[in-house]
Amino acid sequence: MPSSPLDPALAADLQQRAIAAAHHAYAPYSDFRVGAALLLTDGHIVSGCNVENASYRLTVCAEQNAVAAAVALYGPKIRIRAIAVVNLNDIAGQPCGACRQTIHEFSTPDTIVYFPGEKGATAQATVADLLPAAFQLTTEN
Ligand code: THU
Repeated sequence: MPSSPLDPALAADLQQRAIAAAHHAYAPYSDFRVGAALLLTDGHIVSGCNVENASYRLTVCAEQNAVAAAVALYGPKIRIRAIAVVNLNDIAGQPCGACRQTIHEFSTPDTIVYFPGEKGATAQATVADLLPAAFQLTTEN
């Protein structure tokens, strides 16, 4: 569990932003429409949706588009306070492995990940819960 819970109203707002982004998803191949909203540690909120491609493997997940947008808008020092991931298909599911690594890159020990749980509930976890053995490029020899 995160050591520092988010204000419930802020968490609800983040969830709504993710839903709004999911409505913009470009997912003609899977029909799985995903939205993600990041709350940055400085209070900014940035969202993204999945954008698929006819060549399938060029598809970019909602979480990765949200992170890329946040870096483009606010620079490389951003840190994620929380991220809400939703889909419009009422399917329980956690972020994919690639997205976990992408979120990890800009996370803190307090970063909270909200995702669709069973029976329409919202579940949450820390990034360390989701990716306990994240890849890290160490510069120490
Ligand atoms: N997708 C995401 O946007 N995020 C995830 O964490 C998992 C999968 C998208 C990619 C693709 O457009 C669709 O969901 C089906 O895999």
